[in-house]
Amino acid sequence: MKSKIPQTQSLLTHAKLRRPYLLLTGGTGLVGQYLLKDFLVQNQRIAVIVRPGKKLSAVKRIEAIMQRWEHHLGRCLPRPVVLCGNINQAGLGLSDVDQRWVLEYCYGILHNAAVLQFEGQSKLHEPWFTNLGGTENVLNAAKDWDIRHLHYVSTSYVCGKSDRVVQESELDVGQSFRNDYERSKFQAEKLVSQADHFDSKTIYRPAVIVGDSETGFTSTYHGMFLYLRIFATLVPAQQTDLNGIHQTPIQMPINGDEPRNLVPVDWVSSVICHLVSTEAAHNRTYHLVPDECSTARQFIDACCEYFHSGGVEFVGEDHPLDAKSKFAQLFLDSARVYEEYLTSDPIFDKSNVEKFAGHLHCPPIDAAMIKRFIKFGEENRWGKKRMAAPEASVWFDQQLDRLSAITTSIFANLPNVDLTGSGEDRVEVGLNVLGQGGGQWTLTQNERGEFSCRVGLPAVGQPTLQIESSRLASLMDEIEQLGQVTAGQPWDLLTEKIEAAITLSRA
Ligand SMILES: NC(=O)c1ccc[n+]([C@@H]2O[C@H](COP(=O)([O-])OP(=O)(O)OC[C@H]3O[C@@H](n4cnc5c(N)ncnc54)[C@H](OP(=O)(O)O)[C@@H]3O)[C@@H](O)[C@H]2O)c1
Repeated sequence: MKSKIPQTQSLLTHAKLRRPYLLLTGGTGLVGQYLLKDFLVQNQRIAVIVRPGKKLSAVKRIEAIMQRWEHHLGRCLPRPVVLCGNINQAGLGLSDVDQRWVLEYCYGILHNAAVLQFEGQSKLHEPWFTNLGGTENVLNAAKDWDIRHLHYVSTSYVCGKSDRVVQESELDVGQSFRNDYERSKFQAEKLVSQADHFDSKTIYRPAVIVGDSETGFTSTYHGMFLYLRIFATLVPAQQTDLNGIHQTPIQMPINGDEPRNLVPVDWVSSVICHLVSTEAAHNRTYHLVPDECSTARQFIDACCEYFHSGGVEFVGEDHPLDAKSKFAQLFLDSARVYEEYLTSDPIFDKSNVEKFAGHLHCPPIDAAMIKRFIKFGEENRWGKKRMAAPEASVWFDQQLDRLSAITTSIFANLPNVDLTGSGEDRVEVGLNVLGQGGGQWTLTQNERGEFSCRVGLPAVGQPTLQIESSRLASLMDEIEQLGQVTAGQPWDLLTEKIEAAITLSRA
């Protein structure tokens, strides 16, 4: 039976109170990794649908990403709930148990997964399969799971080839497209716009996404990074002149100052995260585009400084293409996939972004930032460096019986932890274990005093204990060494430590 919504509550608040998780797709991708970090830093409850990798399970893929963030930020983070799935399958490939979990726990979905391949053999292949078919599956699954709030990551380039100002409110204006990626994302956004089973639908259209504005990080090497990689690969082999400058003779068929809509991934994620968290901003479309466009000249100048090279000439569109030098041939061949984007880029209106996220300034891409991208690419061997496998002294999700037993002892012996308000005939407590091997669970004590443990934190407002995984692991060892503990015995010695390690919140 559906609960009645109090007049003072919006549909979203009502949904979130009962089902506190936002379901994310594409959490292992470039944008998704930042979204995960940005939401989890704010303690938002996130569940993520992930495919298992060749070597790592879905859980371990996400754990590796979380550990990279923790290393970078120097602090422990909560873990998302990881659901093993694939958006190309009905029900997003989730097990029956996981589908029931989503039905019970998730108020909304942020659909961000896609395939960024430009051309496909047919509509039965990528990028259609995932971008259009996967989005259709997401919409159907959301309906089945009664998820009423949709956030969808599209692309600015659903506008196709356009030389006018593109409005956030427009989609289908009879445009033509450069490739199947644009076509498939356009069709997918149309499906989203036609879906009528949502209370809110919010669409994010980023321009071309580059690396992290501060660290240069990327996990994909297409677009701008492809050009940088080609430069980095080809330049060292070029002869040097008397001044030690590598000669890179090439005539580029552009004037070099054409505006390019490039945006750093950290900004894209921070804006999406802010807009998802701002209810008044929902039900709109957002052009996540830069305030100041970049130019090819800026990139070439930064590359020439970085690699001590010279010889690139901007000769304009009408000049016959000169690919006489070996360098020019290799460069133009390698970058042919982006040829269509060389000469024109639309102007995007971004009124909605300015209105609802105008305080989040898009960092301009300057020479120093471009050099950070190159440096990161080199250190990362242009994507060939393996990500470190995740480590944990305890994988808590594999030790749920032990976890239940230990927390049972903790609850029974912590008089200062006030668990009132968590139910009349049962006690329900969230356990948010931050850091390596951590996770989120709800521990329930029934009227017979028996404890059970299930995945996910309880509804907002219920008591939740938060603890870092390393501290919980050592407490578990100590408690287990004490054996069957009773109040007033050696347990007292531990009580203080536990109280110091655990934070109780109802957020
Ligand atoms: N990058 C850009 O320049 C750009 C610009 C505008 C818009 N966008 C949009 O932004 C979103 C994120 O792009 P991105 O750059 O982060 O892409 P990305 O790095 O290539 O990541 C794609 C993500 O989608 C997931 N995915 C693909 N197929 C899947 C499937 N069948 N089931 C489950 N997950 C699947 C991938 O999972 P695996 O790790 O398992 O492969 C990965 O997590 C996309 O919607 C894209 O269209 C990107």
